[in-house]
Formats: sequence, structure tokens, C-alpha cells
Amino acid sequence: MHNARMSHAQRAQTSDGVCFVRAYAKINLTLDVLGRRADGYHDLATVMQTVDLYDTICLSPIEDSRVQLVSTIAELSNDDNLALRAAQLVRQRLAPRQGVLIELYKRIPVAAGLGGGSSDAAAVLRALQQWWQLPLSPSDLLDMAISLGSDVPFFLNGGLALCEGRGERVTALAPYWPGSMRWLLLLKPAIRVSTAAVFRNLPSSDYSDDTHSRAVRAAVNARQMPRLEDLHNCFERSVLEDYPEVARARADLLQAGAPVVRLSGTGPTLFAPFSELSYARRVQEQLQTQGYEVYLSRAIHPNEGIVSIY
Ligand code: C5P
Repeated sequence: MHNARMSHAQRAQTSDGVCFVRAYAKINLTLDVLGRRADGYHDLATVMQTVDLYDTICLSPIEDSRVQLVSTIAELSNDDNLALRAAQLVRQRLAPRQGVLIELYKRIPVAAGLGGGSSDAAAVLRALQQWWQLPLSPSDLLDMAISLGSDVPFFLNGGLALCEGRGERVTALAPYWPGSMRWLLLLKPAIRVSTAAVFRNLPSSDYSDDTHSRAVRAAVNARQMPRLEDLHNCFERSVLEDYPEVARARADLLQAGAPVVRLSGTGPTLFAPFSELSYARRVQEQLQTQGYEVYLSRAIHPNEGIVSIY
């Protein structure tokens, strides 16, 4: 664990008994699947970075001791919602009489490979820890995070990190981000992809060792742009083959002028880095006229405040 103390910027904002917190999306610069484990999960090595596309969560007290969730996307207002489960977990363990209403303003596309649900869960854990002043150690938080999902530990701090094991072994990397990747287009094809299904269908011939992730880690530690061949995602080949919408979107991004395109997580979102805002914007507009959902974003460290220096 790193950054056990929250900076000012990452603190949940509280006013009049109400608590607001942002939950940022992520992209995967690398995603190496090393092998299948006896527990059904896979061992991974992945370098992840939070980006400034975020959900807004508002927590407020309610009279009884229930946890309730209301989302701007109606289908997410159910018992499987990770933000809801995070609050239930905290309440069960530490504050059995506290009730809370979670209002979830969703902006991060759902089932998209951007970690939205996991980020919401981590944000609720951090916000409740602060708001209810809970005596949670970093390892308590980590245990709760991993019990909610493999990506949740990364989102406790966000930024740039190498994640290993199931995803729970998080090593923070120096906050370097290459100038040639200053702006990021995130293109979400109009399909949803089940993470479990994509893992299940991955042939072992697409497994790798952790070479790419280690190389990217070494490059950013040396404040250098990683080699493009190390921006490797084990799932890219099979997702492009199994989901023609993703292959088409990738071709359209390249055709519109994106120099590099990669899959985020298990997809279907693709990301394309740019060095110039005006160029990124032109490509975004072109793709939007073709009917695509495209976000213009950038790497963000939730701890950094309003000025970011890479
Ligand atoms: O941990 P989480 O619930 O987010 O994972 C969703 C699914 O992705 C798991 O049920 C599993 O099928 C797959 N997965 C995996 N190995 C990982 C992470 C996820 O097989 N390290």
C-alpha cells in the first residue's frame, strides 16, 4: 500500500452531513495474463493509470440503518452494484447502525474496460473511512477492496501503478506521463463485454510473462516513453477477433489519424494517445460524426491537486 494518508485533493468533500467523492476511470498501458490459478482467477501483471473521466458519488445519512443506492443509470440500482456492496461491507464490519443513501452520477461507461464499478467501490470505501472516521488500517482497506473485486485495490489510490497477483499487489510508480501521450481519446464501441467471458475465452497461447509490464515500469521510472511494442494487452487479439465492432472501431480510429490504438482492460474501450490537443480534438470530432462515443481525457493522479507536473 502507498499514500495511506489522503491528500487534500483526494479527500471526500463533506458539507451539511453530505459527502461527495469522485471515482476516476482507468486505462491499462499493459495487461499481461501470466496463467490460470487454482482458484479460477488469473495471475496478472498490468500497468494502470487513472484518467480524468469520473463518476460523482454523493453519500448522505438516512433515518434507518439500510444502505440504499440510486443511480443515473437505472439498471445499476441493484444489489450487485459494487458501490452498494462496499458500503454494506463497511457497515457490517464497523458501523452496523449507520444508514446511508448513495447517489451515483455515472459518467464512466459501464462494462467498458475502464474500471468504473471498481472505482466506485474504492471511492465509497475511502469516503466512508473519512466521513465516519473509521479505524481502518491500510491493510484492512486492502482486504475489503480485494473482497469486492480484483481492480478495487488499485483504485484506493489510483495514479500510475503496476498491479500483480489477481490485481491486489499494487506498486505505485512515479507520476511520469510521456508528452506524446498528453491527451487520450477513449472510444467506447456500442457493445458491452463481460470480463469473466473474455478471461474464460482467452487461449493460453495469448498468455505472456510479465516482460511488457516490467519494461513499461522501467521506462516510466527512467522518465522515458515506453516502447510501443511493450504497450501490450493479452486480450487485444481475441477481443478484436471475437467482437467485430471493436475491430471496426480500431480501424476507424487509425483511419481518422490516431497514431497508436490499444484496448483497455478486457475492452471494449479503445484508447489512443496524442501529443496535441487540437489534433486529438479533430480526430474526436471526426469519430463523433461517424456516431462513436468518444471521450477526450488525460492521465490524472487523484492526489495531485489542481496542478499536475509530470
Ligand atoms: O475480480 P473481479 O470480480 O472484478 O473479476 C471479474 C471476473 O474476471 C472474475 O470472475 C474472473 O472470471 C475474471 N478475472 C480473472 N483473473 C483476475 C481478475 C479477473 O480471471 N485476476
